[in-house]
Amino acid sequence: MPPLTTPFNIAHRGARSLAPENTMPAFRKALEVGAHGIESDVRVSADGRLILHHDSTFERTTNVKVVFPQRSADLVHTFEWSEIAGLDAGSWFGERDPFSTIAGGRVSPSEVQAFCGSAVPLLGEMLLFVRDHELFFNIEIKPLPAAMAGFDVAAKVVECVEMAGLDTGRFSISSFHHPYLRRVKDMRGDIEVNALIGENLARPQDWDAYEFAVYNANVDLIDLLQLQQAWRHGCRVNLYTVNRLAQMHHYLELGVEKIITDYPQLLSDHPPAARNHNRQSRGFQPFADRMSRNIRNELSKAFARALTEHRPTAVFKVADKLARTSAPCCRDYIDDRLERYRRVFDRAWATPNDDFRLSLLAWDESLFFEVHEILEPLWLQAHGDYKLFLQAMIRAAGCYMKEEAGYPAPAASLAAKALPVLRTHRDLLDRYVDSGRLLEALTPPLSPAPLLLDASSP
Ligand code: G3P
Ligand code: CA
Repeated sequence: MPPLTTPFNIAHRGARSLAPENTMPAFRKALEVGAHGIESDVRVSADGRLILHHDSTFERTTNVKVVFPQRSADLVHTFEWSEIAGLDAGSWFGERDPFSTIAGGRVSPSEVQAFCGSAVPLLGEMLLFVRDHELFFNIEIKPLPAAMAGFDVAAKVVECVEMAGLDTGRFSISSFHHPYLRRVKDMRGDIEVNALIGENLARPQDWDAYEFAVYNANVDLIDLLQLQQAWRHGCRVNLYTVNRLAQMHHYLELGVEKIITDYPQLLSDHPPAARNHNRQSRGFQPFADRMSRNIRNELSKAFARALTEHRPTAVFKVADKLARTSAPCCRDYIDDRLERYRRVFDRAWATPNDDFRLSLLAWDESLFFEVHEILEPLWLQAHGDYKLFLQAMIRAAGCYMKEEAGYPAPAASLAAKALPVLRTHRDLLDRYVDSGRLLEALTPPLSPAPLLLDASSP
C-alpha cells in the first residue's frame, strides 16, 4: 500500500465491478484489492439522515419494488431512514451481474451469496470504516431535490466528518452542485473540495473560471488542452470514470492526480511505472511542448547564473514562480531539478572552481540543458581551438538532452559533430578529467552519458 500522500487509485462507489455499489462489501472489496481510496455518493432521507446511494430512486440497486411496491419509483428523499434501513442493496448484483464479473469467474458464487441483504450504508458508518483503515474518501454530495432546498447538506456532511474525527488530508468533498463546495469552504477552508464537471456528455465541461483548486473532470470529455489550461491556472485535476488501463496510465503520466475507476483492481495489479525524470515522461516534454520548454529554459538559465555568480537563492525564486503556475508533471520536473541543483551548489563552492569545471559538476548530475547554459557565455567569448572545443562540449551535452527526451537520431547527429573535434582537442578536456570516457561514449553506437568528474566513484 503506497503512503496516503499519493492516493491515486480511487474505487468508484466502492469496487463496484466486484460487489454491489455503495455498500460495505464494495468498500471492503476496494480495500482488499488495493485501492487507495473510495468515492461514494451522499443523499438525504426524508428525516435528514445522510445515506450513501447513487441514483435518485432506489429502483436499480435495491429490492424497493418488493418492499414498497407502490413507492418503488419515488425519490430517495421521500423515504424515512427506518424504511431505507430495511432495503436489500446487495441481491441485485447477483441477479444482474452488471460488470460480467460473476460470469467471468472474478466474483465467486459464495461472494454473491454473501452480498445478499447488504444494507444502504449511512455516511457516518462509512466514515468510521475509512478512519480505521488506510483509505482516502471522496464524498460526493448529490444535489438535493427542490423540496429539500432548505436542508444545509454541506454543513451536515462537514458535521458528520468532524464527528467521525477524520483528519483533513484523508478525504475530499465533491459535487456537481458547486454552491455546496463554496459552503464547505466558508465553513472549513482547510477541507479539500473537488469541483465535479462534465455531467452532461452533450456539452463541453465547464471549468467555471478555474475558481476551484481541484477539479474532478469527466474522462469522456477531457483533452490535453483542457488539462494544460487547468494546470496553467494552478488547478489540480482528477478524472472519473476511467476504466481502461491504458487511459489510467496515460493520464497519470500526464499529471492527473487521482483516477476514479470501477476497476481499482486493474490499476493496483498494474501500477504505473515510477516516473523517471532522466527519461522524460510524456507529461514534461522539454522539446515538444511550449510550457515545458519555457520552464526548461528559464530554470536552466537561472541555475547557470546562480552557479557562476554564487547566488543560489536566485534560482529558487525562479523555481517557486514557475511551480506556482505549472502542471503537476512540470512541478515534478522542477522539484527534481532543484534537488540536483542543491547537490551541485554543495560541491561547487567547497573548493575553487572555474566556470568550465562548474559545467562538469552539472554534467555529472545529468543537467545537460544547464551545461549548455554555463558553457554558452564562455564559448561566445572564446577564440580559436578553445572556441571549437567549447562548441563540441555544448554539442555533446545537446546530444544527451536529445537522447534523454527520446530523440535518438538528432542525438546521434550531434554526437557525430562533437566527436572529431573533441578527439582533436582532447588535451583541453584532459586538464579536468579523463577525456577517454566521453570519447568512448560518443562513439557510435551512442552510450549513456558517462560521469566525468565523478568517473572514479562507484
Ligand atoms: O465522482 C465522480 C463520479 O462519481 C461522478 O459521477 O454519476 O458516477 O456519481 P456519478
Ligand atoms: Ca459519484
